Amino acid sequence: MRIDILTVVPELLVSPLGESILKRACAKGLAEIAVHNIRDWAEGRHRQVDDYPFGGEAGMVLKPEPVFRCVEQLKSERRYDEVIYTSPDGIVYNQREANRLSTLGNIIIICGHYKGLDHRIREHLVTREISIGDYVLTGGELAAAVIADSIVRIIPGAIGDEASALTDSFQDGLLAPPVYTRPAEFNGWKVPEVLLSGNFARIEQWREEQAWDRTQRLRPDLLGGPDGRAGGGEDRPGGGPERLEKP
Ligand code: ADE
Repeated sequence: MRIDILTVVPELLVSPLGESILKRACAKGLAEIAVHNIRDWAEGRHRQVDDYPFGGEAGMVLKPEPVFRCVEQLKSERRYDEVIYTSPDGIVYNQREANRLSTLGNIIIICGHYKGLDHRIREHLVTREISIGDYVLTGGELAAAVIADSIVRIIPGAIGDEASALTDSFQDGLLAPPVYTRPAEFNGWKVPEVLLSGNFARIEQWREEQAWDRTQRLRPDLLGGPDGRAGGGEDRPGGGPERLEKP
């Protein structure tokens, strides 16, 4: 899969996308991430990418021409399944949406900018608007890095231990159970006995119970519980848990 990210601040994406699992997944050829500086697609001596909004509001708005030019060039090279715009207005991102995106061929992510994008980009180019939470960032680059990270890490083969991406929090609609490592006793606090028992059926049962207990206690909304208006958001695209029945 290929992810093309359009930004006016490419430096913000270098480190998050250039390290660890993402770096290895790209090196293995499982994913390709290309960052494009929108300024490279701007014309004129100053390569201007933004301008004052019509109507006299404060702030600067990203101009349509360089964004359209860049996206059209990319689309002439390959097929894209989704053109995403990172914005606090979008659907709130979750694991279900990450799973869906990871099954696609190629995607483009356009990073939001100060006051926003010229609305014609959103109307005529963007196919999906995604927010990474109900708070406002200075730009969409960190959101794009979050989205790219969450997609690439679940591509089969990206994580060394194949099982571990599948046992993540949220992967089955539940929080992950607690994990422990050596020593078996630290400061007088003992690792739960069951984990030392070597009885894998008991361990698996304990993990499932812990996952349910923690989800009920900490995120009842994922189970459609008291805070979980309509089961954590099935009423909006990308929302809600994958699995509701208790094992
Ligand atoms: N840009 C600014 N705030 C954002 C958010 N919460 N999610 C995605 N993009 C954003």
